[in-house]
Amino acid sequence: NGKTFTLNNGVKIPAVGFGTFASEGSKGETYNAVTTALRTGYRHLDCAWFYQNEDEVGDAIRDFLKENTSVKREDLFVTTKVWNHLHRYDDVLWSVNDSLKRLQLDYVDLFLVHWPIAAEKDGQDKPKIGPDGKVSQLHPRWLVFDSEVTWKSIKSFPRPRETCPSPSPPGRVPYSNTPVDVAFQYVILKDLTENPEETWRAMEKLHADGKAKAIGVSNWTIPNLEQLAKIAKVQPAVNQIEIHPFLPNEELVKYCFDHNIMPQAYSPLGSQNQVPTTGERVSENKTLNDIAEKGGNTLAQVLIAWGIRRGYVVLPKSSNPKRIESNFNSIELTDEDFEAVNSVAKDRHFRFVNMKDTFGYDVWPEETAKNLSA
Ligand code: A2P
Repeated sequence: NGKTFTLNNGVKIPAVGFGTFASEGSKGETYNAVTTALRTGYRHLDCAWFYQNEDEVGDAIRDFLKENTSVKREDLFVTTKVWNHLHRYDDVLWSVNDSLKRLQLDYVDLFLVHWPIAAEKDGQDKPKIGPDGKVSQLHPRWLVFDSEVTWKSIKSFPRPRETCPSPSPPGRVPYSNTPVDVAFQYVILKDLTENPEETWRAMEKLHADGKAKAIGVSNWTIPNLEQLAKIAKVQPAVNQIEIHPFLPNEELVKYCFDHNIMPQAYSPLGSQNQVPTTGERVSENKTLNDIAEKGGNTLAQVLIAWGIRRGYVVLPKSSNPKRIESNFNSIELTDEDFEAVNSVAKDRHFRFVNMKDTFGYDVWPEETAKNLSA
């Protein structure tokens, strides 16, 4: 599948990208999967600092280009992302340089802010893990970073959390209830979605320097994107989000198109996960399987074609060579089949990638609310 879309800055992006998340970074699995993908014809690789396997992706790219001299670096489209604990200006620059070193590249085609939230660092290059085993999170929807606040003022921080100025509607509680922790958030954490400026300025710098041909975000909701639009000198080219028939993300996808932001679908196959309340899986949906069977295609091919027909980039991942190949052999849906998939997707809001366990709160309260009311 050689189809491409064009981003808001004129950069061409292959419509199908190869996802590398969950490929193991230590056993050659990522190396083998990426090598198979490149040999199959994929030219778009979706990576991230957090996946901890960019060394292997880099080795696979290097060896593939050495063996296939007709393919050049410029023919590839490589994405990476900055993780939540690296949102400070210098840390963003550090992150892309670390990824570039591992990927053995001197630029990426796309650099994304992985989540619209900020986490603490452990003092080195790792996210800080709290006593509860979770990533020590800076609350995302609370106040703007204020460097004037000192430890002294924190200790005597007078206001209970309820009176802290916050645009959050009632019901969204901060990370911790204790005044000290709340104050701590004022100092160390910054509200990335209310004030993504420091992080975004670093992204813009990398774009200006040519280290990232395009910059964008991942997992950002409409309110997050609205905040970003206010301060961005370079508007985001991409928003990478979970999209599949159980989470068509109609409103967010429309918002992105209306604002020249290309959506990229991760987990486009609905993973292998079950909806806990109903036990449903995308892979077991009868309507979807009937469409695939009728056309002599795999369900994955139907789901990839559905995404491309909706107009956005699709990022299937697999570590199985046969599936890596068949996923790239794309098909086109008839109008009737396209509508049939749309009817399965209608009014669904189920997110498989729910980071509540990791982050300690719901990053996408809007979708959760819709899902609960559906
Ligand atoms: P595998 O690596 O064994 O192929 P998603 O991208 O939606 O999260 O889905 C990824 C999951 O879907 C992986 O577990 C992958 O397993 C599986 N998968 C990828 N391609 C296919 C396919 N063509 N048919 C069935 N399962 C697939």
